[in-house]
Amino acid sequence: MKSILVIGAGYVGLVSAISLAHLGHRVICLDIDINKIEQLQLGNSPIYEPGLELLLETCVQSQALSFTASYDEAFMCKPSAIIVAVDTPMGNNGYCDISRVEAVAQSIGNQINSDCVVIIKSTVPVGTNRKIEAILTTSALEKYKIDVISNPEFLREGAALHDFMHADRVIVGVRSERAEEIMRSIYAPLLNSSPKTKFLAMDPESSELTKYAANSMLAMRISFMNWLSRIADKTGANIDCIREGIGSDRRIGTAFLQAGLGFGGSCFPKDIEALKQIALDLDIGADLIYAIQDINSSQRTHFARTVLEYLETHSKTEPKVVSIWGLSFKPNTDDMREAPSLDIIEYLVKRGISVQLFDPIAMDHAYRTISNQSWYDPNRIIWAKTPLEAVENSDALLLITEWDLFKQIDLKELKTKMRNPSVFDGRNFFSIDEMEYYGFSYFSIGRSKAQEIDPLQDIGGEKEFSYVPIKRKTH
Ligand code: UGA
Repeated sequence: MKSILVIGAGYVGLVSAISLAHLGHRVICLDIDINKIEQLQLGNSPIYEPGLELLLETCVQSQALSFTASYDEAFMCKPSAIIVAVDTPMGNNGYCDISRVEAVAQSIGNQINSDCVVIIKSTVPVGTNRKIEAILTTSALEKYKIDVISNPEFLREGAALHDFMHADRVIVGVRSERAEEIMRSIYAPLLNSSPKTKFLAMDPESSELTKYAANSMLAMRISFMNWLSRIADKTGANIDCIREGIGSDRRIGTAFLQAGLGFGGSCFPKDIEALKQIALDLDIGADLIYAIQDINSSQRTHFARTVLEYLETHSKTEPKVVSIWGLSFKPNTDDMREAPSLDIIEYLVKRGISVQLFDPIAMDHAYRTISNQSWYDPNRIIWAKTPLEAVENSDALLLITEWDLFKQIDLKELKTKMRNPSVFDGRNFFSIDEMEYYGFSYFSIGRSKAQEIDPLQDIGGEKEFSYVPIKRKTH
């Protein structure tokens, strides 16, 4: 059992702290946000994550886990491992802003009172470990034996506990055998209980870059499929068949090949942008990343324009009403960051469409986010209490986030509630046959069988899909 201090009670920090306490370590979690700490001490999680609050309560009750907002208190237990999990937002010009990690390193340097390892779990650009070593060298490294270690996190929101406890791999970027051994012992309970988890030791630079590489590779797969879905639409092919066809090749696999409205969230957009900046700084070029980003953003506009085009020809009433199911950037989270719903709602509201919104979990976050937008119009945006309330008298239903709940809706009833029973399925969530059986006009992504209109048709206005000219950075 180790005494571990986790700094930062955000997504990664909190899930790591709770999981490590559950695995048998004595963990104290520090965050400078006193309100958050007070809530956590009461057993209330600031984030929605399946299973998290229950485990939080158990770990706090068993005293394996405690919370504090004070560095003095945190260092009283002489932690042998300090995990840095503060956020690294996108800074100016797309660069990853590591100032919070640096500030934490400074505080650690001022407080350190025993030999320990400092583990950087925040997502950081290559070379950050070196910078943190330098900060600690000037403050504390001479007095105590300290190793700085890179240990990126690969958990997904909505499946965070599972991903931590059953990780495909634990990556540690280390410069000494001692550091590797300490990391092995921290993760020993996990490696024992999850035999498929690989423990990979490498240098910190490779470890730092692996994190960006993983997210960029996944984002690339999604954009590739979304690009291909447009070819499927034009040619009468079905993107789901193609996914199965290529995914059956063991070299490819089916994961992250789901065509839809593209990726959102706090990670992919931020990390691919940061990798782009790293490449541009090194004068390597970043054409691939530009294409991933362009396809991802145009996918949303493309979808919204398809809906608008449909309404213009199929609905005579004014104002036209669109229902939206699913607001968070993906299911099982209330996270609204970079959610496709935001761009789609903005697009429609700005063009005079009224929208009726529903999400099973993210309504509060969505309200806070949307009501702060310059385009927010309370007369055009209705917050529904149930999925069926959201579709009352509407001209089109847009499925934006694929919450399981929507599978339970009685499609017959759904049809009777709508003014015009048309469904635009942004996640290929429903079956084409079922929707046809119930008599919906049904449109999905890259599954052309039921397309009534050509969704790629150019209806004028801004250019909907283009490869941007590669902007080269001037030094
Ligand atoms: C992602 C990575 O999957 C994690 O490994 C990583 O740790 C995390 O970022 C991070 O850097 O912290 P997350 O952003 O929580 O996790 O969500 P994902 O489940 O990866 O989904 C990302 C987006 O891709 C979502 O908007 C989802 O709807 C979309 N997606 C995913 C698709 O459009 N198609 C797919 O086939 C899969």
